[in-house]
Amino acid sequence: MIDNSKIIEIPRITDPRGNLAVIENNTLPYDLKRVYYLYDVPSDAYRGGHSHKKCMEFLVALSGSFEVVLDDGTSKKRVTLNKPNKGLLIPTGIWRELENFSSGAVCLVLASEEYEEADYIREYEVFIASINS
Ligand code: TYD
Repeated sequence: MIDNSKIIEIPRITDPRGNLAVIENNTLPYDLKRVYYLYDVPSDAYRGGHSHKKCMEFLVALSGSFEVVLDDGTSKKRVTLNKPNKGLLIPTGIWRELENFSSGAVCLVLASEEYEEADYIREYEVFIASINS
């Protein structure tokens, strides 16, 4: 399951005047319904610490860097995001933790669903129980 999370390269138009990266229809395997971003994250802060039942997310380090620890209940994978043209696709049913934010890091998230607290699993034990059921 963890293998379903993957790095997707965002098509870009390089230019001496500056690069332009485009996320459109077929870049992601879903139509996005929500965009949010994390910024001003202290370097010792942890974000995430949950999984989603339905929502898929695509994370991009628009600026700076941070690490994402993915966990499907069986195996774990640590991914560093530090490029504005490469994002991490996180399918449903994956526990994720974000840490080691660099100074000035901005984490853009493109989500497949609108915000709904009921879509979150915020307790690790409940997450493990959900994948074993
Ligand atoms: P949360 O998703 O737990 O943050 P993270 O995973 O980045 O640590 O969200 C933190 C708070 O913000 C929580 O109270 C829910 C709220 N929130 C919204 O109201 N709308 C949103 O789109 C998101 C992502 C969070």
